[in-house]
Amino acid sequence: MIVLGIESSCDDTAVALYRPGSEEQFSEVVSRQYQIHDPYGGVVPELASRSHLEAVPNITRELLEKSNVKLSDVDLIAATNGPGLTGALIVGLTFAKGLALSAGKPFVPVNHIEAHMFAATAENDVEYPFLALVISGGHTLLALVRSTDDYEIIGRTRDDAAGEALDKGAKILGLPMPGGLNLALRAEKGQRGTPDGTRFPRAYLKPSFDFSFSGVKTALLYHVQKNPPKSEEALCNVAADYVEAIMDVLVKKAVRAAREFKVKTIVVGGGVSSNSRLRELFKNRSRGKDALKVIFPSLPLCTDNARMIAARGFQVFKKKGPGDLGADVFSTFVN
Ligand code: KG4
Ligand code: ZN
Repeated sequence: MIVLGIESSCDDTAVALYRPGSEEQFSEVVSRQYQIHDPYGGVVPELASRSHLEAVPNITRELLEKSNVKLSDVDLIAATNGPGLTGALIVGLTFAKGLALSAGKPFVPVNHIEAHMFAATAENDVEYPFLALVISGGHTLLALVRSTDDYEIIGRTRDDAAGEALDKGAKILGLPMPGGLNLALRAEKGQRGTPDGTRFPRAYLKPSFDFSFSGVKTALLYHVQKNPPKSEEALCNVAADYVEAIMDVLVKKAVRAAREFKVKTIVVGGGVSSNSRLRELFKNRSRGKDALKVIFPSLPLCTDNARMIAARGFQVFKKKGPGDLGADVFSTFVN
């Protein structure tokens, strides 16, 4: 079985081949656009669509060539159909449908958030039910997952997503795109609890499992206005306190939800799940008597990628069969 996955929901164009169960399950080519968007301080949707249009046929050809696979060898084509930037989604989606139609292959649409939610299940034996913590640029949510097609969202962000708070925090600190990653790298070098930083506020919103990250972002803005970091070291120290405040809330809320819903496994996904401090904090929770099992995707499956689209496409196809190949792209949008 070979699944071709295509991802174009935001500013990364990615295509991957997935061979479920084989030793080398994935091969992938990714084309990142942050250098195109950096001068504007954020993703410009029109520029994103144009870059996807240029990249997607080229990287698909490159992927097939480097993997020694012909289009006729592919058994299933999966593409992200939302949520994301509409123009960007249309590029990947119509390309995928065109390929499927011309090569006579089944096509399956994939929800990007579900792909993050189940990404780690492609590489790990995960027992259901589990608690999913999805932390991407636009979404932060907790879900109780009973099977590959049965889950319930129990908490979501009421304002900024965790990734968004990291990206905006990077902007406040004058760091270039990709902001969240650049901020995380500074935080790794910095020290927590120094006079350069502060204990940034945590919003727990008890007893709800919802999140709020706009307060911590505003606190960073005021802190930096009053105490502009005078050195790279000071900046790294502020970054360390800021990242700590965000990761602390994510870990505590996920653990509380797992306990309340009596599940023993937490599965993390989305770009923020690549964060080293988050992994460390969760590791501390997976030791001891009533330890929780915390499962992370490998790094290539964390930030936007096509591996997870192919893997989720295969899961959906097994349950529901092929999707619609009609020309009305919007009819296949799930969100
Ligand atoms: O899942 P993702 O790649 O794209 C979306 O679906 O949005 O997530 C992107 C988010 C960004 O907000 C970025 O700040 C964050 O992931 N991110 C990180 C790291 N790498 C990316 N956050 C913390 N630590 C990182 N190493
Ligand atoms: Zn994503």
